Amino acid sequence: MGNAKGNVINMLISFAVLPFVVCDVQLSGVNPNILTQSKSLGDCQACKLFVDSFKKGLERTSRGKYEGGDAAWEEEKLKLSYKRSEMRLIDIQDGLCKEGKHSIQCHHMAEKAEEFIETWWAQDPDAPTDLFTYICIENMKVCCPPHHFGKDCAPCPGDHEKLCSGNGKCRGDGTRKGNGTCLCDTGYIGENCDQCASGYYLSYKDDSKMLCSKCHMSCTGGCRAGSQKDCVACKPGFVFDSDEGCLDINECDDENRCSKDQFCMNSIGSFTCMTCDKSCNSCHGDGPDMCRKCAKGYSKKGEFCIADREDEDQSEKLTTTRYMTYVGLLIATGILLPRSTSLGSIVGAMVLSYIVGAEYYCMINGHTGLVDLKNFDLSQMFHT
Ligand SMILES: *[C@@H]1O[C@H](CO)[C@@H](O)[C@H](O)[C@H]1NC(C)=O
Repeated sequence: MGNAKGNVINMLISFAVLPFVVCDVQLSGVNPNILTQSKSLGDCQACKLFVDSFKKGLERTSRGKYEGGDAAWEEEKLKLSYKRSEMRLIDIQDGLCKEGKHSIQCHHMAEKAEEFIETWWAQDPDAPTDLFTYICIENMKVCCPPHHFGKDCAPCPGDHEKLCSGNGKCRGDGTRKGNGTCLCDTGYIGENCDQCASGYYLSYKDDSKMLCSKCHMSCTGGCRAGSQKDCVACKPGFVFDSDEGCLDINECDDENRCSKDQFCMNSIGSFTCMTCDKSCNSCHGDGPDMCRKCAKGYSKKGEFCIADREDEDQSEKLTTTRYMTYVGLLIATGILLPRSTSLGSIVGAMVLSYIVGAEYYCMINGHTGLVDLKNFDLSQMFHT
């Protein structure tokens, strides 16, 4: 017995714990994208971002700091001394990587590049090496010159004027990553991106350029040209016509395509079932003027199905509640009656008069009652 009791308690506890377990699972399942930052940049892009930010700083401080010198020659001299001063470098570095969403990566790159920046800063300011080349390619070694790739900045294979037939790019171009093979644009395949992908056809070709274009949307398995007449085969939802090619099938021609409370909408290659307006029982379109039949509580007035009475629902609910009350009272009387006839009959009489009173009240106030006075036929009661 004690054991059984224990089992029941255990069961209750586990039921009580269950929702928490479920909630816990949902909590840990919170969309992880919220927590991770936007996609991080590659090292080369981060370096480029840093260099661009530094160049902006150079521009920002190019007008000099010591303004308002007494004489023009004085101002000029001060400007010159500021040009490569420690002070200007600090001014630039203070404003570095402030804007944009990748500022953390940019700052990180700035830290790593600090010593190289200092040597670059010490160079002759009138014959500077390009900052990007000096920092990102030569010293940080995270980028390569254009059309070079990989650890050692090997040149991308092929004609640099027309890499990957002009329809793709060399993997790792400009960075220390990748293997130099072609990454083709959509619609192109092949080692050199010189073929059309499936679902595309060759739409232009000369000595220097080839173009692939998408087949018509009704095609499957390829095409010879761009129209619906040029398909190798038709996609599902389309039917082949010898004159017109692949034509859309109107699925809505089939009356039983959607369920009873929906109407069918054809679209190219497909169809949608949409729910009828609430005033309809079945319909051939959206809105209360498209009903085939009106829903319960609505009747046809011209084109439209209009609600019979605003308070119809409410009054129906009230009627049901009233009847439930009667049934309750009658049952109570039924229980009481066998125990005490006198008390039972008094209560029974009260209940009956209550019901009669309530129904009479409802009747004269125009609510739906137990008996509909207008159609009431007394003789019927005795016939049955
Ligand atoms: C080059 O890299 C791509 C993608 O990383 C890979 O699919 C491909 O097989 C590689 N090619 C060679 C020749 O290593």
